Amino acid sequence: MPEFGSPYSTLSSSKKVSKEELIRAIRFFISAEYEAIQLYEEIAEATDDKLAKEVLYDIANEEKVHAGEFLRLLKELDKEEEDFYKEGEKEVEEIIEKLKIK
Ligand SMILES: [Fe+2]
Repeated sequence: MPEFGSPYSTLSSSKKVSKEELIRAIRFFISAEYEAIQLYEEIAEATDDKLAKEVLYDIANEEKVHAGEFLRLLKELDKEEEDFYKEGEKEVEEIIEKLKIK
């Protein structure tokens, strides 16, 4: 299950990351948050233990907050990244509008 194979896990405090390395690390962290959400919710759905279910859903929601923090940070570090997200949002908005017409 856990994989600690991040290319960033072996960095020592003496090595500084470039801005591009930082941006790639943030993207990696976002994917890790989504992976954690998936795992916690999957196990929460699969157990009848009420306490574990409640705690797992609570932690999954905290991971969503973390994902939001990382996404906001990513937008700040890479202004072009936000343009791509906006482009994707616009494409979905167009599909939503198209479906409303029918
Ligand atoms: Fe997290």
